[in-house]
Amino acid sequence: MDLVVLNGSPKSDDSITLHYVKYLEKKFPQHNFTKHHVGKKIRSILKDKKKFESILKDVSRADGVIWSVPVYTCTVPSQLIYFIDRIFEEGREEIFKGKYCTTITTSAKFYDHTAHNYLKASSEDMGMEYVDGFSAMMYDLLEEDKREELQKFADIFFRYIKAQAKTPKEFVSVQKSDFSYEPGAVRNVSNKKKDYDIILISDHTDEDKNLKRMIGVFVKSMKYKVKVFNLHDIEVKGGCLGCVRCVNTASCIYKDEHEEFYEKNIKPADAVIYATKIKNRCFPAIWEQFYDRSFYNGHCPRTMGQQLGYIISGPLKQNSNIKEILKSRNEMGLTNLVGIVTDEAEDSQLITDHIRQFSRDFSWSLENDFMRPYTFRREGGHKIFRDLIYEMKFVFTEDHKFYKKHDLYDFPQKKYKTRIKNFFLKILLNTPGIKEKAQDKMTEYMIMPLEEVIDEA
Ligand SMILES: Cc1cc2nc3c(=O)[nH]c(=O)nc-3n(C[C@H](O)[C@H](O)[C@H](O)COP(=O)(O)O)c2cc1C
Repeated sequence: MDLVVLNGSPKSDDSITLHYVKYLEKKFPQHNFTKHHVGKKIRSILKDKKKFESILKDVSRADGVIWSVPVYTCTVPSQLIYFIDRIFEEGREEIFKGKYCTTITTSAKFYDHTAHNYLKASSEDMGMEYVDGFSAMMYDLLEEDKREELQKFADIFFRYIKAQAKTPKEFVSVQKSDFSYEPGAVRNVSNKKKDYDIILISDHTDEDKNLKRMIGVFVKSMKYKVKVFNLHDIEVKGGCLGCVRCVNTASCIYKDEHEEFYEKNIKPADAVIYATKIKNRCFPAIWEQFYDRSFYNGHCPRTMGQQLGYIISGPLKQNSNIKEILKSRNEMGLTNLVGIVTDEAEDSQLITDHIRQFSRDFSWSLENDFMRPYTFRREGGHKIFRDLIYEMKFVFTEDHKFYKKHDLYDFPQKKYKTRIKNFFLKILLNTPGIKEKAQDKMTEYMIMPLEEVIDEA
């Protein structure tokens, strides 16, 4: 079989993920693997049509395609998003149509599922037959049983190709809309207060009329002053290179305007509103590049306590994966997601009402310092980060300092009072006579402390 490997890692041959593919290459010598370092070479691929076309030519001849990709900020590296967007922009999906395809990722398994969803949805949009992918922890390949799993996974993929078996589709095709938002007359709140540092970052161009108008309504409706920035005005030379030198310096090796912008504008802000559109199955790659480059902050919620919101043009409801990524970024950043407004209602008056309410909610959340309780996304995600940084504290030195300083090493074994209480409770609850009585009254005991609070209220 001829297989084309699209390597999304910016580290090309040094990619950890690609070593999983190299292992398969050794185990399946009967198959031919052609690798393209899309992540590393994205700039020249986008500039030089010949390079782009030569990759497509290999795909057109292949029996199967493998996305070999690290997970970056809950999705895939921006370099790969640029590549996938280019396929759609050039209308070249037909090259991929009907091809068998799968994904291999390595990561710390933090939001790896959303990265897989992105690739599966994009592949299905191209009409590919997608066989569910393989998500590995970075060093799983060192373990015999994991290597066996990898081999079996590859076997399944090859069997699908051989049998030309049809795969069930997971994502519905997105229905695009040409709805034009007409905000009508919106009163500009005059004498805007400057009590808070509120910034709005957008990537709109002149073509993004709905987005521009939504931003206009929000800025007018807010009773506080909002500073507006456009990503296109900030010099960002390229996507994260995955060099991880920042883990010891908390600074990026790129010399451009990204870090300065982040430090000067995002970190000190009381509120940040991101305004963008949905492009294919993601935000535009310029955004993902911006997020990836924020990796110099490590795994630390450096904007914690901020109020956060999104103004989005495009089919968010049809892309629940994007919403999941936004919410996870919010919760892991320890920010408060005030809301997300979109133009999906296709009713101008209603959209204007939503934006006005959004601006009122923003002011109220700022004035009242409101933080909505987090969900599984934070609870689960935090434990993954906490354990990872603790185990690798000699690598993630800046993260380690931050976690110590902010008491984020909240391991259960450190809760001495609870341990002592549990020790005595265990003895008590195993004492004959008490055990049976306690079991009968279990639900009563469980609500006792809650009732005390209500009585005192
Ligand atoms: C910018 C950046 C963002 C990352 N984001 C995530 C993430 O969201 N979830 C995760 O589990 N790992 C994340 N990682 C870790 C990588 O997925 C992991 O190191 C991977 O094995 C790198 O693979 P590669 O060597 O093939 O590039 C991130 C790494 C970088 C550099």
